[in-house]
Amino acid sequence: MNDIRSSFGYDIFIEDPIASLDTWLEAQQYSKVAILGDTHTLEVCLPYLNLYSKHSSHYDLIEIDPGEDNKNIDICIGVWSMMQEFGLDRKSLLINLGGGVITDMGGFAASTYMRGIDFINIPTTLLAMVDASIGGKTGLDLQNYKNHLGTFHHPKAIFIIPEFLSTLHELEIKSGFAEVIKHGLIADHLHLRDAISFLENGEIGLDVLIPQSVKIKLAIVEKDPFEKDIRKALNFGHTVGHAIESYYLNKGKLIMHGSAIACGIMVESFLSVSKCKMPETDLKYILEIIPNYLEPAKLNEEMILDLIELMRKDKKNESSEIKFSLLSTIASPILNIGCTEEEISEALVKCIHYFKI
Ligand code: GLY
Repeated sequence: MNDIRSSFGYDIFIEDPIASLDTWLEAQQYSKVAILGDTHTLEVCLPYLNLYSKHSSHYDLIEIDPGEDNKNIDICIGVWSMMQEFGLDRKSLLINLGGGVITDMGGFAASTYMRGIDFINIPTTLLAMVDASIGGKTGLDLQNYKNHLGTFHHPKAIFIIPEFLSTLHELEIKSGFAEVIKHGLIADHLHLRDAISFLENGEIGLDVLIPQSVKIKLAIVEKDPFEKDIRKALNFGHTVGHAIESYYLNKGKLIMHGSAIACGIMVESFLSVSKCKMPETDLKYILEIIPNYLEPAKLNEEMILDLIELMRKDKKNESSEIKFSLLSTIASPILNIGCTEEEISEALVKCIHYFKI
């Protein structure tokens, strides 16, 4: 594995991340450093970094509860207040140690605190390693609408430590694989084949898959950092997926991001056939792999109207149309496809029927 330099001027350390973190921190002149994590990451992952024995600096800890239901402005006010209480100033650093909730919220908190201070991401889930920590999107949910608050603000470095994955439940790994498979589906047959080979028989290791996935995501965001064009391809599966997540958040139930996205990929594959003439053979392949290797959220008929209503409020829409990033074939995305409620409803019904057979 080799470290990856992004065109945004920061490095993604994969080769020897713990040693690189030490060297990187030693080389900086931060006035103060605080670490944002959740109860799990501060207990299980922080000791692994061994920061306290190697550095004389003091690190303040900011702990939040895990879970998407905490990715909101109320909890963020708590984070900002702690940053202020610990005396973080414009020359300070925030270290985000956690999954997508932590990297999204920590990035947002740092990018807005005192008009923006430095932060680094140390992702602890597969999903955050290959997706959330990369690309400069920070975010909070607003009234359960996903990432309706946010900024584009890049970290100063990312340190990927695959050993953290051994602390995760199998479902968390599957959740991350939804984004790995999405990267293959939108951009790269080889990556898709390698991901399936890992899931089938472990022949390809995460040491190969993670850098592949990181490079696919990075190459896309480097071309279009502010999501004016090709970055929208990364939203494949997410218009429906985010609606499913919001639906469950509104019910006070949490589902994994990857589970919602896996289901979103299935529904949006039906739409890809009807709207973009994706070949039926590609649909068949996607409908085989997703339920086989991931844990797609289940849908039922009663959810359809609510889901469409939630999609209407999706931040990716531009006019009154509900906009999708779909596929014309595997690895060929098509952007800005407006779909009617009837078309979306039809795709949802097809997916519901598919689950029943
Ligand atoms: N997660 C999609 C993006 O970063 O654009």
